[in-house]
Amino acid sequence: MMSKIVIGNQKMYMNKEDVLTFVETLKNTNMDNKQVIVCPTFPFLEYYNGVVPVGAQNVSINDNGAYTGEVSAPQLKSLNIPYCIVGHSERREYNKETDEEINIKVKKLLDQDITPILCIGEKLEERQNKSTETVIKNELNGDLKDLSPEAVKKIIIAYEPIWAIGTGLTPTLEEIDEAMNFIKDYVKTTYNVEKTTILYGGSVSDKNIDELNTVESIDGYLIGGASSKPNAFKYIIDSQN
Ligand code: 13P
Repeated sequence: MMSKIVIGNQKMYMNKEDVLTFVETLKNTNMDNKQVIVCPTFPFLEYYNGVVPVGAQNVSINDNGAYTGEVSAPQLKSLNIPYCIVGHSERREYNKETDEEINIKVKKLLDQDITPILCIGEKLEERQNKSTETVIKNELNGDLKDLSPEAVKKIIIAYEPIWAIGTGLTPTLEEIDEAMNFIKDYVKTTYNVEKTTILYGGSVSDKNIDELNTVESIDGYLIGGASSKPNAFKYIIDSQN
């Protein structure tokens, strides 16, 4: 079984003391031949940088200027940040981010050679009324608009059903496998990209990682809550071999 990518989206969970403890745990975790990325809030990026590859959780649609509270792709680049999450459902919901803005952010990141980790996924009622595939298609069409196959190839896509985020609920392994294959096929036929990296996200934990690891089509995980718990995150890393 191939080792899968483990990405921690630490959201707004931890303070400085927690981060320092977490960094120590990572230093004591064998990450040889593993792909681990940690995405903390902006002030804590520097604590992880050098210990593990890091990602930001958001980026501005602008490069530079009078935009209070924003952080731009060229600024991330100047700090050697190699990854950035875009289009997380929490930002789509609470910050009213649109696919049009997400498309701009993806392009800004690619311009700086920063790898976007693009989040997509359906709400519970959309799954219930069987429109998961339509939702995924619409998000991908908007978020990847006007990108060349070379550009699309560089993006990591994270499938995160919104109803599975932070709820302890997950789709069945078959449903996850179906979604992974649907996204891979759609990207292949629409954007002419042979191989895309697709992550699963939504209530991944040390409790369910062993069974998730058996799903071959999952290339990796985007982990929220469990990525703020050092022992749970370490268990997930250790489970990759
Ligand atoms: P949880 O792992 O807490 O469900 O969050 C998933 C997520 O939103 C990762 O981006």
